[in-house]
Amino acid sequence: MKGIFITVEGSEGSGKTSLIQGLLPLLAERSNALVMTTREPGGIPLAERIRDIILDLQSEEMDEKTESLLFAASRREHLVKKILPALEEGKLIIADRFVDSSLAYQGVGRGLGIETIAALNAFVTEGLEPDLTLYLDLKPKEGLARIQQNRANEVNRLDLLGLKFHQKVHVGYLKIAKENPQRVVVINAQQALAKVIADCFEVIIHRFPKLFKEKSSDNLK
Ligand code: TYD
Repeated sequence: MKGIFITVEGSEGSGKTSLIQGLLPLLAERSNALVMTTREPGGIPLAERIRDIILDLQSEEMDEKTESLLFAASRREHLVKKILPALEEGKLIIADRFVDSSLAYQGVGRGLGIETIAALNAFVTEGLEPDLTLYLDLKPKEGLARIQQNRANEVNRLDLLGLKFHQKVHVGYLKIAKENPQRVVVINAQQALAKVIADCFEVIIHRFPKLFKEKSSDNLK
């Protein structure tokens, strides 16, 4: 694989979308990367349709294993149709959520077990792991307060699960970060957005210096 695969993870209200929007102009200006952004669940039409089923408030009664399978199905389509081809083309992919979301939400939040969900996702990904995961860490209370304030009218089924569920998700993410210190970098999402963006950009420069080399020598010419 020639490209680079970066995932952004975090619980509700942690600012993933704003971070990605903030990184794009910096990468365009300072790196030579061909950047592609995407999100889960979704990212391509079929996966977006599965997303609608999962997140629809009317899917209230959905069984937890069904939910895990739908996330996995949506991920498989997204991976095969969008992520793998982009990696082959040498792109830098920034994905809003990936397997860690399932480990944290379904594995720990829903209580199905990280190992079980990891096994299900191994079938989906055939071992592909992100090169880097930026985990935006925020206390669940703070995150839920932010979504109440900022997007109370577009709340989805999982947003509504309450503080206890989101506290479990948080514990799940911290466990994943602890067990994957090479891949997962914990970013303090309590800070102002500009600082979160700057911290993440520093991590990317440090991890993938080659992306920045040609551009800086161009600038010297
Ligand atoms: P979204 O509106 O994209 O929320 P956010 O802005 O917080 O990413 O909704 C995605 C929801 O789906 C979110 O609550 C997290 C949840 N989710 C899982 O539970 N498992 C998964 O594997 C994925 C990808 C998302």
